[in-house]
Amino acid sequence: MKVKLEVKRSDPERYERYELPYEEGDTLLTALQKIKEEHDPSLSFRAFCRAGICGTCAVKVNGFPKLACREQLRPYALTGEVIKVEPLDGFPVIKDLVVETEGMVERAKNCELWVKPKQKNLPIPPEVNRKIEKGADCILCFACQSYCPQTREREYAGPLFFAKLHRFCHDPRDADAEKRLEEAFKGELYHCLSCDKCSSACPKEVSPADLIRELMTCKGLAQKS
Ligand code: FES
Repeated sequence: MKVKLEVKRSDPERYERYELPYEEGDTLLTALQKIKEEHDPSLSFRAFCRAGICGTCAVKVNGFPKLACREQLRPYALTGEVIKVEPLDGFPVIKDLVVETEGMVERAKNCELWVKPKQKNLPIPPEVNRKIEKGADCILCFACQSYCPQTREREYAGPLFFAKLHRFCHDPRDADAEKRLEEAFKGELYHCLSCDKCSSACPKEVSPADLIRELMTCKGLAQKS
């Protein structure tokens, strides 16, 4: 069996076609590595863990954001469907499938998205822990961010940012509630369309859309709006 790929390349912008023999268990990441090693060493893409943990290998596959290391090639090999591979939408392209996500990372850093403890060793009840765990599962792959229609229309901070912000609404250890609320407002939280596209794109089932809806009902925020 063979797999057919159409990979978006930059400089000059074009789609390159490749046909590779399929081996049992091959993923899209395996195929990209084969292309790089056996056909074209100039192909650029990001990958690190190969296990769906680091979030670096997210690309657009037939129009939908996916982790290349988790995308199995078997269905494509069986049906003969061409796999169109493109960089994630909504980010500047550095080269081929590599996009610039530094702006988003900087924003998260500026917002100081880490717990600022009120007091040492404050216990967290298990039900609260379950609530804040969701956002912690986010691997920063930017799939949700790239699939959200609002991030391209306005200064909307986006599902990834709000999924991370969500925990501070519930984490009893955090001492900076005011700043969290401010950031949610600055990021235009209330412009979420509730279309759930971000949740459908998330490979870790974080469900950012649900977290955004919960964030909207957070005590201080709901009073402010
Ligand atoms: S290489 Fe780490 S998530 Fe795919």
